[in-house]
Amino acid sequence: MPAISVWTLCVVVAVFQLMGVAWAAGDVAKGKAKYQELCAACHGASGKGDGPAAAALNPKPRNHTDAAYMNKLKDQQLFDFIKKGGQAMGKSPLMPAWSGQLTDAQIQDLVVYIRTLHRRKP
Ligand code: HEC
Repeated sequence: MPAISVWTLCVVVAVFQLMGVAWAAGDVAKGKAKYQELCAACHGASGKGDGPAAAALNPKPRNHTDAAYMNKLKDQQLFDFIKKGGQAMGKSPLMPAWSGQLTDAQIQDLVVYIRTLHRRKP
């Protein structure tokens, strides 16, 4: 039955497309777990820039719930900032570079998680 195989082909193509989108878009849950593990000490558990280590820092860690500021940054800028660190991006060296510790996919997960902090609730 040719009709069925065409249908099957469509489903297979759709599934592959969805997988591709999911990969490129990052995984919010994984990003959240990494954020709590590596970033919350400075940026705070809810991303407000009020982690336990923040009191000692100047400038303060960025408040990731500040939509007015965060929405001005492109995803690629967030990605580069996390990967290369503050110093390489012309900002505070207190923001570490994570390229040695995180893969590009893990950094992408963090970017999509950070987006949920100011665009919509996770
Ligand atoms: C040791 C403390 C510290 C840790 C840990 C830390 N950050 Fe930061 N982060 C900072 C500081 C300080 C700034 C502010 C830099 C500035 O404005 O000059 C910052 C800024 C940022 C920014 C804003 C960039 C911009 O353009 O303003 C992002 C995004 C960010 N951090 C993501 C992360 C992520 C993701 C992690 C965990 C993988 C993390 N940070 C871990 C201290 C930290």
